[in-house]
Amino acid sequence: MHKGFALWFTGLSGSGKSTLSERIYQRLVAAGAKVELLDGDEVRTHLSKGLGFSKEDRDTNVRRIGFVAELLAKHGVIAITAAISPYLETRAAVRERIENFVEIFMDCPIAVLAERDVKGLYKKARAGEIKNFTGISAPYEAPEKPELTLDSDSKGIEELAREVIAYLTKAGILK
Ligand code: ADX
Repeated sequence: MHKGFALWFTGLSGSGKSTLSERIYQRLVAAGAKVELLDGDEVRTHLSKGLGFSKEDRDTNVRRIGFVAELLAKHGVIAITAAISPYLETRAAVRERIENFVEIFMDCPIAVLAERDVKGLYKKARAGEIKNFTGISAPYEAPEKPELTLDSDSKGIEELAREVIAYLTKAGILK
């Protein structure tokens, strides 16, 4: 039904990575696929516990997630990852190691995310209460050639999930 691959979500905090990846995970599980979900927030509670948000710590976090995704994909599992993964070079290094790497950019203007501010973090970042906040006081380097760019500003989760599944099917990654 499928080969091993990594479905790598990248995008700012609040752009919908976790919600969409969870939805796709559920869909694939229901279809009988072998799939694992590595969510940034969750990974930071065990595999990357203790890491902060300096460039160095983020790179370590992203490389760890990449390492696990690589092992999973090598054994025929679909590894879905949802971390901001803000640095181009680090994502490129991960891509390099994974045979089937599908990068999905959750594209949403920061003004919209800061306005929604679901977790209240943008407000704190702007007030200087959170340092090195992606998009405010730390960089986000958008992908140059992602396999897929999703408009997470105006489209709903269902529509985006359909776009992802359609892409994977068309690319011959999912049957
Ligand atoms: S990454 O940069 O290392 O890929 P990751 O996805 O694991 O980030 O974690 C991001 C989440 O941590 C955000 O969604 C947010 O909830 C929380 N967070 C806490 N501090 C920061 C910060 N300084 N910058 C970005 N996100 C932060």
